[in-house]
Amino acid sequence: MTATPRPSTPRLSTLADLETHVAHRVAMFKDMEMGSEEGLKRMAESFRTQLRNWLVTGQCRGLVMEESGKAVASVLLLMKESVPTPVTPLSVRGYLFNVYTVPSHRRKGLAARLTDAALELARDLGLEIVELHASLEAEGLYQRMGFVPTSEMRLVMGAGIKTPKQWKHRRT
Ligand SMILES: CC(C)(COP(=O)(O)OP(=O)(O)OC[C@H]1O[C@@H](n2cnc3c(N)ncnc32)[C@H](O)[C@@H]1OP(=O)(O)O)[C@@H](O)C(=O)NCCC(=O)NCCS
Repeated sequence: MTATPRPSTPRLSTLADLETHVAHRVAMFKDMEMGSEEGLKRMAESFRTQLRNWLVTGQCRGLVMEESGKAVASVLLLMKESVPTPVTPLSVRGYLFNVYTVPSHRRKGLAARLTDAALELARDLGLEIVELHASLEAEGLYQRMGFVPTSEMRLVMGAGIKTPKQWKHRRT
């Protein structure tokens, strides 16, 4: 009898996982119905270069879960420059992003396990605040983990930028 394959425990990404994170970023935005084919292609090219540098310098850490040698879920944690406030004098915060689970493996707790692992990593790195932008689909997941909405607002200034519906869902 062959055992049913199970996703591995989250492991730290290496440069060899670069294409997984790029592919998961494209798939994430497609699932959120954001971006044209051309926009996604331009994003992927630019993100590949940026993430390669971040993985080399350690400014961004990734976590991946695999099954039968294939990445089925991943997340990225960026050490993001910020500004000291009375709440914390630290000028760096964690930014959790690129959270993605392939459709065949959803609703099995993979994103929750990855987020937990990323938060543990953030604690080990000494980060005091972790921020993220939640898709509609992931809001419940993050709220259960203790994330709360913040006062962030945004002004879109680029000519020709069409505001995605995901950016304004809370107030419409
Ligand atoms: C959002 C996303 C990352 C969630 O990934 P996931 O691995 O399915 O997440 P989890 O399994 O940890 O949790 C998802 C839901 O499944 C539920 N769940 C977890 N294990 C379960 C189980 N064994 N049985 C039934 N439900 C389960 C969770 O409670 C959660 O419920 P909710 O949607 O009501 O909050 C995934 O759907 C995805 O990649 N979506 C497209 C991209 C995206 O939106 N990314 C997030 C950007 S912020």
